[in-house]
Amino acid sequence: MNFLLQPDQQIGPPVKMSVKILSITLLLLSMCVCCHSSEGTRHRHPGLKPPCCVDITKGNKTADVVGETYREQAASGSCVKAIIFNTKDRKQLCADPDAQWVKDRKSC
Ligand SMILES: *[C@@H]1O[C@H](CO)[C@@H](O)[C@H](O)[C@H]1NC(C)=O
Repeated sequence: MNFLLQPDQQIGPPVKMSVKILSITLLLLSMCVCCHSSEGTRHRHPGLKPPCCVDITKGNKTADVVGETYREQAASGSCVKAIIFNTKDRKQLCADPDAQWVKDRKSC
């Protein structure tokens, strides 16, 4: 039982504590770095390359489209020729310019 009072046993807990604090600090730091970097790429990405439609829907999405405005996209690189509508959930819908419902929607 005497060995419990040895000096190295007494400095044991503070060392463990600081390791814990250090790891928590590192964890928090890495979380911050993660958040910032993912936020950074999310904000930076559109600037580097404007988002464009690489695929179009041929299905009738009339019910999802909102607003009177649409955008025409020309084919270039991986972007395809498309009509871009706004949807209810503030997303952009890439539609087939030749689909009948798209033509109907454009005319109204
Ligand atoms: C698409 O659906 C809407 C209603 O959801 C309908 O009024 C319209 O006629 C449909 N268009 C085509 C081309 O099927």
